[in-house]
Parts: sequence; structure tokens; C-alpha cells
Amino acid sequence: MAFRYYNAERIRERMPEYNGTDEELQDSIDNISLLYNSAMKNLETKLEILSDDFDKTHEYMPIHHIQSRLKTFDSILKKAVTYGIEDPVNNLDVVMREVLDIAGIRVVCNYEEDIYSMSELLLKQEDIELIRMKDYCDTPKESGYRSLHVVVSLPVYLVNRRAMVPVEIQFRSVAMDTWASLEHELRYKNKGQLSQEIVNGLKECAETLHEVDERLSRIRHQVISDESEYSDRI
Ligand code: GTP
Ligand code: MG
Repeated sequence: MAFRYYNAERIRERMPEYNGTDEELQDSIDNISLLYNSAMKNLETKLEILSDDFDKTHEYMPIHHIQSRLKTFDSILKKAVTYGIEDPVNNLDVVMREVLDIAGIRVVCNYEEDIYSMSELLLKQEDIELIRMKDYCDTPKESGYRSLHVVVSLPVYLVNRRAMVPVEIQFRSVAMDTWASLEHELRYKNKGQLSQEIVNGLKECAETLHEVDERLSRIRHQVISDESEYSDRI
């Protein structure tokens, strides 16, 4: 997992409004980095353990791959401003309470049904607290985007304290992830401006991929039932 470190000196030049010393700013940045990176590590391990146990009990790995990212200090503050938080650099406690996607994990599953089994298994765990869930698989966004977004908070144990840290998890199928990555890149290339024709075309692609997801899932179930019939016969 790639960690992105913050550079306090560089940031300080852009944040002359910070009330404390350079050392205090560096300390806050390091603290955020440590807390959120640790929470992501804990969560990734939990998901890997679930996937390994699935493999052991069902001979099947539901997770295709996992990606994690930590927002840069800069973009955390930018997001805080869009949320209406005034003077965010001097109110980092408010920022950490309000901005829930400082740490983000993307869990790309093979099939849509794996999204629900993995998220349910995770949410059952005692130390995981559900903060928010948005099901864009059930109700896709206007763009055609599908994913299950879950914000959880989980404990991080440090030398002399325990902190509950929020992490945003995006559960997706491989097909949903393919669409979201390509759509994001196209939008980014065009600085967010895409013609209505392109937007419609992308939405159609999302719907086609959803149909493919459903067909693949039906085929998978057929294969599983053929296998068990075969093993019943021998
Ligand atoms: P913000 O994070 O402030 O936007 O609010 P939110 O968390 O309520 O937003 P949302 O639930 O829409 O999740 C935002 C994240 O989902 C984005 O950072 C993307 O990763 C992803 N996302 C949402 N909509 C789209 C979309 O139309 N296309 C793509 N490619 N990704 C999307
Ligand atoms: Mg978000």
C-alpha cells in the first residue's frame, strides 16, 4: 500500500493563517497520517481475513483486489471548505469529524452478490461501527455510477490512547469498477465537462455492464449447481 506523506513546510507557505508553530502543524499532519493509515491497514487486514476464510470454507475468493488511498492534507482542507467549515486549518477537530473520506478503501469484488456478503460480514464485527451507508448499486447515480458506499469507524490503538477513526469503503464489482475508472478518467481529461451525448453513452455502458454482471452471476450459480450435481453422482 502506497502511503502519501505530507510536507508541512510546503503546506505552511500556503497556509500562513495557521495559528500554531511549524512543529505543531507538522505534528497535526503526522497525527492524521498515522491515525488514518492505521485505520486503513486494520480494515484491509479484516477484509483479507474474511476473503481467506471464504476461500477456506467455500473454495472461493470473493475479493478481486483492494485499493486504498489517503487524501492529501491539502485536499482534506479543500473538501472542508466545500462543506462550509470556516478556517479549517485551525479547526482540524471539526474537519476530522465532518470529512468522512480522509481514508478511503475500494473493495473490488468478483460478483455483485459478493459486495453484500463482504459488507455484511464486516459490519457484523463488534469493533466496527456503521456511520453511513449509500447503496448506489440499488439506486445508481444519475451518471450510471454503481457502488455500495459504507462509512465505518473502527478503533486504532496507539501508545497511550485509543481513537475511533472513520474510513469510507466503496464496494464494487469488477464491472462497476471498470466503468467508474474509465468514466472518471474521461471526465478528468475533459475537466468535468462532457457533452450530453457522451454522458448518455456512458450511462448506457453502465446499464450494459450491469446486465453483464447479472448474467455472469447467473452463469456462476449454474456452474455451482452443475458441480454439486456432478459430485452427488460420483
Ligand atoms: P462527497 O465525498 O463530498 O462528494 O460526498 P459524498 O461522500 O456524499 O459523495 P458520494 O456518495 O457521491 O461519493 C463520492 C465518491 O464516489 C467520489 O469520490 C467517487 O469516488 C465516487 N463517485 C460518485 N459518483 C461518481 C460518478 O458518477 N462517477 C465516478 N467515476 N465516481 C463516482
Ligand atoms: Mg465521499
